[in-house]
Amino acid sequence: MAANGVRCGLDCVHCFGMAAVASWFEWLVSGAKYCTVYVISWWRESPSRGYCPDGSGRVVPIVSGSNSRPLAIDLAAELGWQHIPLESRRFPDLEGYVRIPSEHIEAVRSRSEPVVLVSTTYPDNGIIETLLLLEAISDVREGKTDSLKGGGPEGLLPVGPGVILAVPYFGYSRQDKRFQAGEVVSAKAIGKLLAGRCDGIVFLDIHSRSALEELGVPVVFTSCMPEIAHYLQQIVKPDFILSPDKGAIERASQVAEAIGCRFSYLEKTRIDAHTIVHKAKDLDVDGAIVTIVDDMIATGGTICRASEALISQGAVEVHAACAHGLFTGGAISRLDEFVNGVHAANSLQNPRAVISGGPALARGVLSLLEDLS
Ligand code: R5P
Repeated sequence: MAANGVRCGLDCVHCFGMAAVASWFEWLVSGAKYCTVYVISWWRESPSRGYCPDGSGRVVPIVSGSNSRPLAIDLAAELGWQHIPLESRRFPDLEGYVRIPSEHIEAVRSRSEPVVLVSTTYPDNGIIETLLLLEAISDVREGKTDSLKGGGPEGLLPVGPGVILAVPYFGYSRQDKRFQAGEVVSAKAIGKLLAGRCDGIVFLDIHSRSALEELGVPVVFTSCMPEIAHYLQQIVKPDFILSPDKGAIERASQVAEAIGCRFSYLEKTRIDAHTIVHKAKDLDVDGAIVTIVDDMIATGGTICRASEALISQGAVEVHAACAHGLFTGGAISRLDEFVNGVHAANSLQNPRAVISGGPALARGVLSLLEDLS
């Protein structure tokens, strides 16, 4: 028999010898393959490396300053990656201070993996914190130690690019156009500042993509609407989802579709920051449990006015859900008068943050890593 299983026409002793050697060789190769697979899976799942449920076998350092730590921890847990807390505090005069603690410098200087910084740009000091953290990470990765007064590592070699920024809530996203002559497109201005200091950005439930599509680095937009839909289905069990304006139609209809319930939207005119007017519309909500889904809630005015319209048309319960709970100037107590419940994702820390943005950020980060590879 020949080594490949085809019968040899000669049937000679020489052929049997060859067959024995070949099958011994096959056994050796399959044994080596088995051992390699075993060693790789042991290494990937070893507790010291962290379990890697993203399936890539990668362990990417996820770092955070002070403004997004719970979400950074959620993201790390979601992917089985390592969360590294960075130092971020304020001087007495309120200027910001950031530092990569000495014990984490080597992790941030990973050669094989980029670093993911989770940081919001809200309120304004979030912009400063994010920019300073990006700069600190780049400096450490470049091995910059010039003007170092205290002791510390010196003569570090650059480890190459690889800083990804994941922004749970992007402040200034609503100034995505020049609404009047002489205005600045603030979203683009801030976006460019960030893009100049990193290799890619993930935005969670951005208000409008238009100003952020050409920042010069790869950008991924991700959304926690699937998690909001899942939460609502479990806790609120709505019959009807309402978008409070045309801008939220895509988001809210996605939630309605995931839940499998009815959907409609209102047309909104904003007179000023505190005054909202909705165009009258017949909504088929008599006896219904309704959830108003928006990207963000700030003063709460949009939700309160939409809730009035729903209640006047017979809704028995009205809830509000959003990705970003800014809840400015007493918004929560105002909302409590108009809705039965407020449910927010944890892109910002607030008393109504009950839905994790971690899975959505994880999808965004994995997608960006794929784009960058
Ligand atoms: C605007 O179009 C946004 O999607 C929100 O509807 C708005 O920012 C909510 O603001 P407020 O809670 O102050 O009405």
